[in-house]
Amino acid sequence: MQIRDYIYQFAEEMARAGLSFSHGTATPLDEAVYLVYCELGIDFDQPVEALTGELSAQQENSLDALRAKRIEDKVPAAYLLGRAWFAGHEFICDPRALVPRSPIAELIANRFQPMLAASPGQILDLCCGGGCIGIAAALEFPASQVCLADISADCLDLAAENIKLHGLAGRVSTCQSDLFTDLSGRYDLIVSNPPYVSAEEVAELAPEFSHEPRQGLLSEDQGLAIPLSILRQAADYLEERGLLVMEVGYSAAALQERLSAVPLLWLEFEEGGEGVFALTRRQLEQFRDEFN
Ligand SMILES: C[S@@+](CC[C@H](N)C(=O)[O-])C[C@H]1O[C@@H](n2cnc3c(N)ncnc32)[C@H](O)[C@@H]1O
Repeated sequence: MQIRDYIYQFAEEMARAGLSFSHGTATPLDEAVYLVYCELGIDFDQPVEALTGELSAQQENSLDALRAKRIEDKVPAAYLLGRAWFAGHEFICDPRALVPRSPIAELIANRFQPMLAASPGQILDLCCGGGCIGIAAALEFPASQVCLADISADCLDLAAENIKLHGLAGRVSTCQSDLFTDLSGRYDLIVSNPPYVSAEEVAELAPEFSHEPRQGLLSEDQGLAIPLSILRQAADYLEERGLLVMEVGYSAAALQERLSAVPLLWLEFEEGGEGVFALTRRQLEQFRDEFN
């Protein structure tokens, strides 16, 4: 079979199977292209139409195995490939941590402008998972020191592999901590994509999400318990002109309703995504009582 025909057929099967495309690609065709190109090592500059070469029997077998795991077992593509792309960088990706997909990638590429007045020297990626946000920030701000913190030892092991992959051992470190409990010092930027999905919502998520660690998704109190805890404490870990950037995804409306008196700055994205806000240290101090 020609490679392009395999891709089109795979995309049609995925569309018929009603899969969820919420882990980095938007459509069945995008995902078929992503899986086949990565598996066969095809350059993404090549258009699908040009792929008229025949698959070898070995290639077809390995693609068939991938296809069965994606369609029948509903395994996210990034776990099948063992890697993911985030903010233009490659990361090792496996079920120890969530698949990277935060819109915060776009903020990093834009150097958090216009919210950040100067390049941050000390950065904390709180709830770091496999470390994609903090590592991408370290690459964007080459003079920065970055701490990747998570409660999960598995996530931190994966984050350490990603630090090594990017040759950042001198500037990026990991720390196991229940939110701020085992952290000290002050940061110019705290960036966080914490768990923010309520128990009811977790139960309704597509099967793809069941392959991800539940600890990365679930937060009590309508999804707001962990974000509010971060809001209560963040000022104590920020420098005078420091900034907190946090994703709360589709819990944004619930958070805004709960914090109606707080001027949360909801950020806009050109590449899609929502539910990310910024607050300065001064605002976190000013409105601290609202976070209780
Ligand atoms: C939504 S995932 C985000 C992972 C990564 N930052 C990303 O964007 O792909 C949330 C992470 O928070 C971690 N986490 C959950 N509860 C935590 C806690 N109390 N303290 C620190 N990290 C926690 C989970 O282990 C998980 O890695």
